[in-house]
This record gives sequence, structure tokens and C-alpha cells, in this order.
Amino acid sequence: MKKIGVLTSGGDAPGMNAVIRAVTRAAIAKGMEVVGVRRGYNGLINGDIVPLDARSVSDIIQRGGTMLYTARCAEFRYEEGLQKAKKTCEEQGIEGLVVVGGDGSFRGAADLSARGILSIGVPGTIDNDISMTEYTIGYDTAMNTVVEMVDKLRDTAQSHDRCSVVEVMGRNAGYIALNAGIACGATYIITKEEPFTVNDVISKIIEGQKSGKHHFIVIVAEGIGGSEQLAKEIEQATGVESRATILGHVQRGGSPTVQDRVAASQLGYYAVDLLSKGIGNRVVGLQHNEVVDYDIQEALKMKKEFPHDLYKIANEISF
Ligand code: F6P
Repeated sequence: MKKIGVLTSGGDAPGMNAVIRAVTRAAIAKGMEVVGVRRGYNGLINGDIVPLDARSVSDIIQRGGTMLYTARCAEFRYEEGLQKAKKTCEEQGIEGLVVVGGDGSFRGAADLSARGILSIGVPGTIDNDISMTEYTIGYDTAMNTVVEMVDKLRDTAQSHDRCSVVEVMGRNAGYIALNAGIACGATYIITKEEPFTVNDVISKIIEGQKSGKHHFIVIVAEGIGGSEQLAKEIEQATGVESRATILGHVQRGGSPTVQDRVAASQLGYYAVDLLSKGIGNRVVGLQHNEVVDYDIQEALKMKKEFPHDLYKIANEISF
């Protein structure tokens, strides 16, 4: 393979730049030319492509966001969009592609592979909701951001004897809520994966009050939502003044942690290695700290277990 492209797609995640750097340098080291495709699959459709060399990816490993920009691309779900993308690749001599993103982006990579442009998916999302891998790039940074923010909220909740209800991202997945919740010493963690009632949350707070607790942290996963309403119900039922905070997109930014930079470098490198061997239609990931790769269709069918035992631990020590 003589020339490959790299793009970032879907929601951005800290560490995407580190993948772009690893892909670019690995490709150059293997004697391949490499280009960046801007704004996800839109760049393939519109021919928005920039050459990359070793220096154009200098000084980005530590930066959040993505130097190639990112977007979700509705046109890419249709044959017309795919054909335009294929044409751009043929005109530019792009034989392989590394796609950094989530499940939606991998579907596009499978469609392109089926049309002769060998593509490899690299899991980049703060949600950690990709089944074939235990870890997705951006997850650790996002959790650390949540912990930093909740620690600050705890200070003011403590000063005012309040309950802080904090809604965290994760679309429909509760991984950020669970792990950041444990790390923040939350009184209660609410996620879709674990059954709960508002009364359970209230009872836990009342129990805490009885044992002399004056301030509380409740973490709510985005998929549940309703944190303002929950704060009101807690206040009414317990008499503890309550405030809701939706952390929002702050969780998507910031300089990637060591874990994200290392995973990005490993997975980016491995994706290029597969392409250099003429292998496409795979998604790379990490299992037991080892790099693994799966057929994209197979990866999309896999199911990820929620760590219920960890949830149980969090619940048992939060009183
Ligand atoms: O998938 C990452 C994520 O941040 C989710 O946690 C969240 O639901 C979604 O993206 C938000 O997307 P947008 O940036 O388009 O509002």
C-alpha cells in the first residue's frame, strides 16, 4: 500500500490527535504517504484533504480536540455518498484509511472496505461504549475531568450542607458515571444498567443524615437525565438543599491523560500495521492490555458487560 488517509469522526475525544500523530509517523516509517481527511467522512465526499508529514503532527500529542476536525455525516449512510468518497480516494490514490471514532463511524469504515478502500476503525469516544474493546481513547481523560469537577462541587456542597446532583455524559452508557462516581465517593450512582427508584436515592440520603452526614453527591448518567427534577425531589423529601449540575461538553475537552496518549499511540500504530499488510475491514482495540482486532461486522454485534460487581462495591461503601 502506497498511500493512506486518516480521519476523525463522530464526537471528538481527547487522544484523537495522538492517534493522528501515531498513524502519520507509522505510515511514514513504513514508506507510505499519508493524508488527513478533514471533518470526518464529509472530507472524503468533498475532497477536503491535507497532506501530512512528520512535522505537521508535531506538538499535537498533548492537545485535546482533533486537528482534522470531526463531524457526523448523514450523506455517508447512502450509496451516493459512499461512491463520492470512493471516487475521491481513487483520484487521490488513497488505498487505505484509518477511521477514529465510535460504532457509527465503524459502519462507514465497513462500507468503504466493501467498496475496495481498506479501512481500519480505531475506538475514539469518551463513552467507553464499544464492545470489542475494554477501553476507548478519551475515556480516562473524560473521567478525570468529571472527578476534578465533582471534587470542586463537593467543596461547595460541604460548605452549604447541600446535595449536589451531577449529570455526566455517556449517551446510553453508564461507564463514566460508575467509575467517576466511585472515584468521587458519590452517595448514589444512577445509570441505566442498574435498577433504581427515586425512593432508593432518598432513603440512602436519609440513612446518611441519621449517621451525621451533611452533604451528598449523586451522579446521574446522561441516559437517565432529569437531574434538575431529581434535585427538587431530594430537597422536598429530605430537607437537604439540592442543586443540579450538568457537566456537558467540558468532559470532551482537555489534554489527554497518559493512558489516552499511550492507547492512542498503540492503536494508531497497529491500525497502520494492518493496512501495510493489505488488511482492511477490521477494528482494533485493547483486551487485557493487549492489542486485538476484529472484523468490523463481528465487532458491531458484540455486547459489553457492565461491571455490576463494581457497582455493588460502590453502593456498599457509600454510606
Ligand atoms: O459520544 C460522545 C458524547 O459526548 C456522548 O456522551 C454524548 O451523548 C454525545 O456525544 C453528545 O453529542 P453532541 O456533541 O453531538 O452533542
